[in-house]
Amino acid sequence: MARYYDEQVVQEIQDRLDIVDIVSETVNLSRKGNRYWGLCPFHQEKTPSFSVTPDKNMFYCFGCHAGGDIFSFVMKRDGLDFKEALELLAARAGIELIDANRNNKQVDRRKKVIEVNTAAAKFYHQYLVKNNYSTALNYLKERGVKTETIEEFNLGYAPDSWTMLQEYLFKKGYSQEFMKLSGLIKRSDRQNSFFDLLRNRIIFPIHSSRGDIIGFGGRVMGDSLPKYLNTPETEIYSKRKNLYGLFQARDTIRLMNEVILVEGYMDCIKLHQGDIKNCVASLGTAFTSEQALLLQRYTEKVVILYDGDEAGQRETVRAIDIMAQYGLKIDVVTLPGGKDPDDCMETYGKEEFLKYIQNNKISYIEFKINRYINAEKVLNLESKSKIITWLKKDINKLGSEIEKDYFIKLLARKLRLEENVVYREFATGINSIKGNKSRTNRDNIRYGNYSIEEKILAAMLFSEDIFLKIKNSIGVQFFSKQEYRELIEIYQQMEGTDTLKLGKMQKAAGERGIDAVLARIMVVNEDTPLQQIEIERFIKRVKKLREEANWQKIYRSLDKLQEEGNFINLLNFILNLDTFNHTQEGGIK
Ligand code: UTP
Ligand code: MN
Repeated sequence: MARYYDEQVVQEIQDRLDIVDIVSETVNLSRKGNRYWGLCPFHQEKTPSFSVTPDKNMFYCFGCHAGGDIFSFVMKRDGLDFKEALELLAARAGIELIDANRNNKQVDRRKKVIEVNTAAAKFYHQYLVKNNYSTALNYLKERGVKTETIEEFNLGYAPDSWTMLQEYLFKKGYSQEFMKLSGLIKRSDRQNSFFDLLRNRIIFPIHSSRGDIIGFGGRVMGDSLPKYLNTPETEIYSKRKNLYGLFQARDTIRLMNEVILVEGYMDCIKLHQGDIKNCVASLGTAFTSEQALLLQRYTEKVVILYDGDEAGQRETVRAIDIMAQYGLKIDVVTLPGGKDPDDCMETYGKEEFLKYIQNNKISYIEFKINRYINAEKVLNLESKSKIITWLKKDINKLGSEIEKDYFIKLLARKLRLEENVVYREFATGINSIKGNKSRTNRDNIRYGNYSIEEKILAAMLFSEDIFLKIKNSIGVQFFSKQEYRELIEIYQQMEGTDTLKLGKMQKAAGERGIDAVLARIMVVNEDTPLQQIEIERFIKRVKKLREEANWQKIYRSLDKLQEEGNFINLLNFILNLDTFNHTQEGGIK
């Protein structure tokens, strides 16, 4: 339990929560480099100028200049004061605060259902591992699943009983109400009683991206049908909105800026087991826009690795068409002979398979070209023309002319046509997408126009060396904006390493209502960090400006004295000039 306003609590909440997660609750973010972009929730706009920098735990809007940390975001979004934001975020982070008010009912209910799920997962897992339930363990062993993997994915076994789970949960004190809400028990048609949904199946708990257990998949151990039974859609689980393995894979996906998408639970865990840790599985549905949005939060690039059979290839095309709408960069790997990734892992071993993936990864456009060509019985003029029409839309959507050119040439080669012919076919289309694209780019370039003061301030706050260098040569009073001078003042009160100081500054800036200014300064340093030489040049320029300002003052005084016509005063002034010049202090102005 912790007290309000305790610095440590604030820090711990920041450590535990991901600002991208919190912001994503209300803003659709997509990743570009190390930053995330979306439409600003605080003002009306059509092109995204709202950015989140997860490393710094900050957000900033280039349009309306709102900005700050995770606390300021929630305060602004929900209209809360700091204490309320703290309570809300502490609850999300699983930190208990003294005095914390009861959360609202819905949150409570969701929490209870997650608790039931967590208890059920434990039951299934223990049944498998502690009871050493050999039929299931042997099944997993035969399929090459290692003990570590069983632990990592919290796999379990649901015993062949209609009531064991309910009884277990009752004993643990969970009421039937929440068991029903979890979807793990079902009302039987004939009797007024409930039965366990998953029986005699291997259990795959499904986690949310935050790690809460939100649902389950259960596989039979033989060939009977249905092969998988999954928990139904519940208050906390929607298969359209989640991806299996995302919780385990998310850090690696971020790090690599790439995700590998497979179809099956088993494919996913086997790839993880083979050290391919950036892998997630769609949950037995056709890939959805919600899933594309979810992936966008972590990566710019997707590699689709669906089953090699016709169904898998067909689904690949569907997934491509959805992902492409969200601007994800898509590659496809086709597996040989109708195999799935799990088969390949077993056949090739992890080294070989990884090599196979690397060597056979093609862009989705090439994949589509191949697929269309394969689908045609004969490649005559008519079918060639049809294929060009199909691909025109995809190729025209590409952002860069170089890419377009590349694929038009590829298409010509694969269709055995003169390049000119294909170019001509492309020239007859109208490209409606293009206008939009270039506007986004232009807007984003504009955001890079930071003032030199902002750049200098950023450089100073990020490095004590630079701070001292500037302070000792031209002082710190030259900033024209009050907020900048305040940030400098706060900075000077902080102790510790550069990074530590920045962290502490967020809170102090928040208290003075200048956290948005600080957020922007943080973004500046990421976009356009100053070179040493630019800093030297700035110092020189400030010195020169000051000198000029001094001379202006002197000239004005001389003019005035001359007008007055008092020769002695004029002479004294000139004699004192030297000292005057050296004792001047002041800003640029
Ligand atoms: P697959 O049939 O490819 O299964 O379905 P799999 O994952 O490769 O399973 P193994 O290798 O035979 O054990 C792909 C995914 O589709 C969903 C599951 O999520 C599965 O992982 N699915 C499939 C269902 O939900 N229900 C089903 O009956 C079948
Ligand atoms: Mn399989």
